Amino acid sequence: MSSVHSCARALARWPQRPGQLQHAWRLPSNNTFSTSPVLAGNRAIVYNTNGDPARVLSAFSFPELPPPPPNTANIRFLLAPINPADINVIEGVYPAKPEPDVSLCQAKDHPIFVGGNEGLGKVMDIGEGVVDLQKDDWVVMTKAQSGTWSSAKNVALSDVLKVPKGLSEAQAATITVNPPTAYNMLHDFAQLAEGDWIVQNGANGAVGQAVIQIAAAKGYKTINFIRDRDDVELLKQHLELLGATHVVTYDELSDKSLRAKVKTWTGGKDIRLGLNCVSGKTTTLMARLLGNNAHLVSYGAMSKEPLSLPTSLFIFKNLACHGFWQTRWYSNKSLEQRQELLKTLAALMRDGKLRDPDHEVFTIGGTESDVSASEKICNLLARLGQGMYGKKVLLRVEETA
Ligand SMILES: NC(=O)c1ccc[n+]([C@@H]2O[C@H](COP(=O)([O-])OP(=O)(O)OC[C@H]3O[C@@H](n4cnc5c(N)ncnc54)[C@H](OP(=O)(O)O)[C@@H]3O)[C@@H](O)[C@H]2O)c1
Repeated sequence: MSSVHSCARALARWPQRPGQLQHAWRLPSNNTFSTSPVLAGNRAIVYNTNGDPARVLSAFSFPELPPPPPNTANIRFLLAPINPADINVIEGVYPAKPEPDVSLCQAKDHPIFVGGNEGLGKVMDIGEGVVDLQKDDWVVMTKAQSGTWSSAKNVALSDVLKVPKGLSEAQAATITVNPPTAYNMLHDFAQLAEGDWIVQNGANGAVGQAVIQIAAAKGYKTINFIRDRDDVELLKQHLELLGATHVVTYDELSDKSLRAKVKTWTGGKDIRLGLNCVSGKTTTLMARLLGNNAHLVSYGAMSKEPLSLPTSLFIFKNLACHGFWQTRWYSNKSLEQRQELLKTLAALMRDGKLRDPDHEVFTIGGTESDVSASEKICNLLARLGQGMYGKKVLLRVEETA
């Protein structure tokens, strides 16, 4: 029996709603898993092979979830971000690998992966033995690479954490990756005190904006580097409103006069921490601004260039370089420590110190066909791949009508 037939057989076991249309399966062609017509039920954004997301992603309809088994819950995803790492996962170049979603297809020779690592789910139904969650509670995923670009999912209780109340959907949907990365990098490397200075590049990214806000809440001063663009003054103003002390373009960083300016800004105080999102030449230049015994923490490599540092920084300034990966932080910490961090970040958000990330909600509508939804998502990923998108995209995959 072909793998697609095995998948069709697996789907046939799900209960059919009255009036639900029979799934008409086609063999995937051009990596499109399209089913026609659209099922009344759910939809996920899936892929079956690694590659350029704009080519390998498809919309995939599947029926309503059956009632949740004991110690699990059925959740509806409200919003799920498209983070840069999600793209790397689909490309197959990210160290954290997703498992195939066997609820969509059990055939081992035809794995189906659902995109997305982070997301906000609303509890729709709980299984026997579930006491800590109730219908309508909001949850975020603790299991990495859970496949959040979907309208619904059955989750084990151990794979989710309840979200503290009082957050917006956008805040809750993005609370497990970027804000904790910013928070931990500000706390785990240099012992900073109020009035201390830090430098960072990629400062207008979601992590960078969280760094600016958390640093401002702690009384740290930030020098923030960004790429030049037509509306650079508007972007500078925006980052300053979030709490950035100074915002500087990489072109300005290349100018030797910047070092003297920075000395005036800091009053000659050593800069103790540098955060690197980008690597490449701009990071070499940024590292030269660091003072004695500083820490340079790399968490991204958006330029796709290597990191090169003058040896003199190590010899004469005792520079320490580190990598930070939030996934590793989570796997080294207890559930209580994760909960504590979630509560701390939620409190910053509720107090207005950590705002909604700049975002755009991208909706895959419930009445769209899988073919048109696939085209829409691929076009979006192609645009995101070109860079300078300017906003975090939060995906809303509606239940199919
Ligand atoms: N290590 C960790 O635990 C961890 C956690 C979260 C995120 N990350 C990584 O951090 C990075 C940023 O994530 P994010 O969610 O903040 O992304 P984001 O909101 O999409 O921001 C991306 C940032 O990178 C810049 N950028 C993109 N392409 C660039 C290039 N070719 N040269 C220079 N700058 C470039 C963007 O500037 P423009 O606006 O000018 O394009 C923007 O500042 C990603 O690499 C992500 O994987 C790592």
